[in-house]
Amino acid sequence: MADLKAPVEPFRIKVVEPIRPVARKEREALLRQSGYNVFGIPAEKVTIDLLTDSGTSAMSDDQWAGLMTGDESYAGARNFFHLEKAVQSIFGFTHVIPTHQGRAAERVLFGVMVKKGDGVPNNIHFDTTRANIEFLEAQAVNLAGPAAYDPDADQPFKGDMDVARLKKFIEAKGVRKVPLVMMTVTNNSGGGQPVSLKNIKEVSRVCAHYEVPFFLDACRFAENAHFIKKRENGYAKKTVLEIAQEMFSYADGATMSGKKDALVNIGGFVTFDDDGLAEKVKNLLIISEGFPTYGGLAGRDLEAMARGLNEVLDESYLEHRTAQVAYLGGLLDRAGVPVFKPFGGHAVYVLADRFLPHIPRHQYPAWALTVALYRESGIRGVEIGGVMFGEKTGKGKKEVYPELEMVRLAIPRRVYTASHLQVVADALIEIYQNRGKIRGLRIVRESPFLRHFTAQLEEI
Ligand SMILES: Cc1ncc(COP(=O)(O)O)c(C=O)c1O
Repeated sequence: MADLKAPVEPFRIKVVEPIRPVARKEREALLRQSGYNVFGIPAEKVTIDLLTDSGTSAMSDDQWAGLMTGDESYAGARNFFHLEKAVQSIFGFTHVIPTHQGRAAERVLFGVMVKKGDGVPNNIHFDTTRANIEFLEAQAVNLAGPAAYDPDADQPFKGDMDVARLKKFIEAKGVRKVPLVMMTVTNNSGGGQPVSLKNIKEVSRVCAHYEVPFFLDACRFAENAHFIKKRENGYAKKTVLEIAQEMFSYADGATMSGKKDALVNIGGFVTFDDDGLAEKVKNLLIISEGFPTYGGLAGRDLEAMARGLNEVLDESYLEHRTAQVAYLGGLLDRAGVPVFKPFGGHAVYVLADRFLPHIPRHQYPAWALTVALYRESGIRGVEIGGVMFGEKTGKGKKEVYPELEMVRLAIPRRVYTASHLQVVADALIEIYQNRGKIRGLRIVRESPFLRHFTAQLEEI
């Protein structure tokens, strides 16, 4: 059982934003208007927003000060060079290409590297990497080990990739049809679980053997490095920076959403060494994101990201961050609410199929739980299950569901205190005690890619 002492915030609060209560009747009406999709609820009508940890961080006083130093020149703004230096010192690659967020980094990289019919392995693809690959008519393949799909397995690195399956996949597909291998650290779609350095090394060795480039989806690299320090033999005495540097030393490059571990509200980049690739990626970038020294961002955003990348490596920050997740998870676990264990880096994942065993998969139990959570308490979480990852395959277009059906309660960085987390736990525990009342849903409208963002549903 996790230590249930409330974690002490390692910061003082200098600016506050009020949270306004929303009456239940209004929440009911908003759910109907949004098509029972919490993405459609205005944020001001949410009391505690655990939809995502992406772009929702509170910036530090130093980052806010940095905004005022923004150089808004079109080309060669000073803040780009600050970002370049920060990225190079941690990631160690020569080319640093900013983008407006992570998926844009994926798009410009895959746009150059991936062709129709290719296959791109990952431990578990996040929805945007999957969508960007499928948009190019290539195949996004998940090769995480079996522990990734076992919410009860007490293993420290459930984000690890199954190396034997990776080799088998490359052999079967043919090296020429595998343009790159990715690893998501931490593994967001698999419970925010970390990847070990041992596994990164092994995957790197396989990629080197087949001469396939190896990229990290590095959104939460600092949280991953923190877990390596805590859980992997031989790393306790290394700094998180040294561990992060070692992680990247085994890769050929990385895509990054700065909206996570660069502690900013917008921003991303792609970084690697290959000069030829850089030229092609920059050409694609210029068409859609902008000139290569700003990539869709203002100078001030580049500065905030540069500063955030250094702040995120502060070990007391990372200690508190992971303790917050363990605290919320521990409160739920103690009350019998089914949760994915061990607790990962940025979120608690509630096992919705166990929470709502009376709702079949085709009625989307995790989605139903997000609706119930908002209806009963005004709290917003996100479904990571059948709506997000369901696929219609075969002749009859039968829907196939992912192994895990979860609600993710993502904790924004430096935003909520321990008492907010207590409120979330109390609300969910009460819902659990009355879970029989919750109904499943059916989809009435959906889009072909990333359907969860805009899908309209109705209750059955
Ligand atoms: C693992 C992972 N990769 C990529 C992305 C995409 O990043 P962005 O939202 O900045 O486009 C996310 C966002 O949540 C993510 O969690």
